[in-house]
Amino acid sequence: MKHIVPHLPNTFLWGAATSAYQTEGAVAEDGRGESIWDRFCATGGSRNGDSGSVACDFYHRYRDDIALLRDLGATAFRFSIAWPRVLPDGVGTVNQAGLDFYDRLVDALLEAGIRPFATLYHWDLPQPLEDAGGWPARSTTEAFRCYVEAVAARLGDRVSDWITHNEPHVPSWAGYGHGVHAPGRRSVADALAAAHHLLLSHGLAVEVLRRESRGSQVGITLDLWPMVPASASSEDVAAAREADGDQNRWFLDPLFRAAYPEDMLELYGPHVPRIEDGDLATIAAPIDFLGVNYYHRDVVARAEGGGRRVVHQADSLYTEMGWEVSPDSLHDLLRRVHTEYAPPLLYVTENGAAFGDVRGHDGSVHDPERQAYIALHVEAIACAVESGVPVGGYFVWSLLDNFEWAAGYSKRFGLVYVDYPTLERIPKSSFAWYRGLIAEARNGARRAGLDRPAAAVTTSTPRGGAA
Ligand code: FCB
Repeated sequence: MKHIVPHLPNTFLWGAATSAYQTEGAVAEDGRGESIWDRFCATGGSRNGDSGSVACDFYHRYRDDIALLRDLGATAFRFSIAWPRVLPDGVGTVNQAGLDFYDRLVDALLEAGIRPFATLYHWDLPQPLEDAGGWPARSTTEAFRCYVEAVAARLGDRVSDWITHNEPHVPSWAGYGHGVHAPGRRSVADALAAAHHLLLSHGLAVEVLRRESRGSQVGITLDLWPMVPASASSEDVAAAREADGDQNRWFLDPLFRAAYPEDMLELYGPHVPRIEDGDLATIAAPIDFLGVNYYHRDVVARAEGGGRRVVHQADSLYTEMGWEVSPDSLHDLLRRVHTEYAPPLLYVTENGAAFGDVRGHDGSVHDPERQAYIALHVEAIACAVESGVPVGGYFVWSLLDNFEWAAGYSKRFGLVYVDYPTLERIPKSSFAWYRGLIAEARNGARRAGLDRPAAAVTTSTPRGGAA
C-alpha cells in the first residue's frame, strides 16, 4: 500500500500507546501493591488464567522499547502510571521506589526526544481501595486526588501532557455493571456511581495538576463509539440514540456542559447516584484536550423485549475482537465532537486492530491488515483536520502485543510482536510501514510549511470549550 502522506501540520504528534498493567509485569517488585486486575486474574476472571504478572516485562525492558520508539520516529508515547506502585495501599505512604520507575521512564523518553503522555488511571485500582468500596464509593475520589498529588509532585516538572482517566465507561460498566472486567461486580447502580466518581475524580485531578504541574496540558480520554441506527424506523433510531447516551453523551455532557443528559437520567431513573452540589462544576473544569479512543462503530437496532442489539454488517470487515472496521465513522465522530462539544484540541489517543499475527518461516511477521487499518484511519483524521477539526496527534494501540484484559494474551494489537515465552520483540511489517508514514508525513509537512500548531487550524474556541 502506498503512503497517503496526509496533510497534517509539522507539530502533529505521531505515537503509540500502552498501559501499565498490560505491559509492565514485575507486579511484586519494588513495593508494588496488589491491584484489582491481579485479584481478578487470580480468581478466574481472565482467559486461561492469564495475567499481567510478566506481560511484556516493560518494567525491565523499557529502554529497549524506547529504542524501538526512536527507530519508529515516534514523537510521543502514551503510557500509564500504576497507582499500586505509587501507593501500595491505595492511600497513605508513598512508595518512592515505585515512582522511581516512572522517573527513569520519563527521563529516558525526554532524552530520546519523545514527548511523554502520562495516563494516571488505566484501570488498575489498588485492591485495598476496592475492598473499601471501589469506584462506587465516593471516598475513592479523594484517594485518587492524593495519588495524583504524589505523582505530580514527582513528575510534574517534566511531564507536559496528562491524561487523568482512560475510558471511564469501561471500568464503570465492564467492571461494575457487567462483571466482565475487574473487579467483576454486576450492578447498574454501582456502574453509574462508579462513572460519576471517575468523572468527579477527573475534575479533582485537573485542579491538582494545574497547581503541581504548571504549564502542562491536561485532558481525559474517552472511548467514543458512533452509534448508527440499523434502519430509519423510530424504534431503531431511538435505540441508537440510547446507545449513544450510554456510551458517549453520559461522559461528554458532564465534561463539556456540566450536566448529565436528560433522556438518560430518565432512562436510568432510580439507579442514578447521588450528585452533590458542585460535583458537575468540578467535572466540567476546563481541559486542554480531549483524548479519543476509536476502534469501531456500532449499528444498533431495537431488540425484541425492548433492549438493544448490534447488527452485524455482512459487507464489512471485522477484526479479531469482532469490531467492525469503519474509518469513515472516525471522521464523522471527530467532526461531531468538534461541532457539539468544541474541546480546544483533540488527540486520537488509541486506534488499532487485533489480527491473528503469526511468525513466518523466516521469523518475520507480516500484517498487511493492520497496516491497511491504520492507513485508513489516519486518512480519516487528515480529512477531519482539513475540514477544520483541531486534532493534534495520533497514537497507535499498541506499540507491543500485550495483555488484552479479560481476553488475556489471545489478541495481538502491537506494531511489535512479542514472543511471550522469550519476551523477544519482533517489529511487524506494519512497524516499518508506520515508520515510513511518519517520516513522509513529517517531511511533507515541513516542505509544505505547515508548521503551525494544530489548534490554529480551526477557528478559535474558548479554553475548556463549553458548548
Ligand atoms: C481499549 C483500552 C486498551 C486496549 C484496547 C484494545 O479499550 O483502553 O487498554 O485494551 O482497548
